[in-house]
Amino acid sequence: MKSLFSLIFNFRDKRLEYEFCGMKLPNRVGLAAGFDKNAKALHPFSGIGFGFIEVGTVTPKAQPGNEKPRLFRIPSDRALINRMGFNNEGLEPMIERLKNRPHGLIVGGNIGKNKITPNETAYTDYETCLEALHPYVDYFVVNISSPNTPNLRDLQEKEPLKELLDKVKMKLAELKATQPLLLKIAPDLTDGQLNDICEIVHETGIDGIVATNTTISREKLSISRERIDNIGPGGLSGTPVKKRSDEVIRFLRRKLGNKFPLMGVGGIMSPTDAVDKIRAGADVIQVYTGFIYEGPSFVKRINKAILKEIEQ
Ligand SMILES: Cc1cc2nc3c(=O)[nH]c(=O)nc-3n(C[C@H](O)[C@H](O)[C@H](O)COP(=O)(O)O)c2cc1C
Repeated sequence: MKSLFSLIFNFRDKRLEYEFCGMKLPNRVGLAAGFDKNAKALHPFSGIGFGFIEVGTVTPKAQPGNEKPRLFRIPSDRALINRMGFNNEGLEPMIERLKNRPHGLIVGGNIGKNKITPNETAYTDYETCLEALHPYVDYFVVNISSPNTPNLRDLQEKEPLKELLDKVKMKLAELKATQPLLLKIAPDLTDGQLNDICEIVHETGIDGIVATNTTISREKLSISRERIDNIGPGGLSGTPVKKRSDEVIRFLRRKLGNKFPLMGVGGIMSPTDAVDKIRAGADVIQVYTGFIYEGPSFVKRINKAILKEIEQ
């Protein structure tokens, strides 16, 4: 029997179906990582009509994340600042829940390293996550772009990134795991760094990119300097990250060609923003902050806009 949620919010249409990295999605609107960090709400989120859900970031061991307060709403800018710090229950409870995931739902596993693991051995944490999760998820995302784990983003530099991705790819081969492997990147990378990423994509043969995570920039906020300082460090999401996130997608699409799988996330606060992201070059999209501000009907409204766009 369909849930009430599903009856009200789930919007299905054959024309919305989309194949991404070999996965057959009912539509191309996903829930971004960090919302269902522990895979606790797959059933209700699936009922709302998401085409796919990315769980995590999960780290091998449970960790508490940063002290509260660590999440701040900035409604005047349609934004959030968070410094959650990969708070999560670790692999084991997630796996138990994934065993009961909704039938047919596409689930991505967004994986990270524990705070106490130094960058030099970070690959072991990613390997542990792959090993534990590969029977239970449909795709993997290597997250090295969160601003809230000290030094994590240093792994986006050319040499460390290539080493990490080579190791991760080797591990997948050893496990005979066939899931697509995507890399999630920050919006704060320079065009030069994005060029390096494009080279690494070719060298390592990863399957796709998720762009982007939150930004450390505060440039696009209209609130006072005092309030910004009071909030303190963290990743900014929502409207202020949209322009750069769209630019990153556009850059990657231009560099990597028409066929390379791109997942666009960052600043989708309206159905029009979602269409913009697709026009910028994203194959599929994800939402987080927009979903918080707009509520459960957001997915349906975006899908209706996408339908209109593809039917034009
Ligand atoms: C509270 C919060 C927690 C997040 N946690 C994660 C996370 O654990 N892993 C991750 O890859 N991204 C995480 N993100 C980033 C989002 O997945 C997304 O990339 C970013 O917020 C930009 O999209 P948006 O503007 O639609 O929110 C988090 C974002 C927020 C606001």
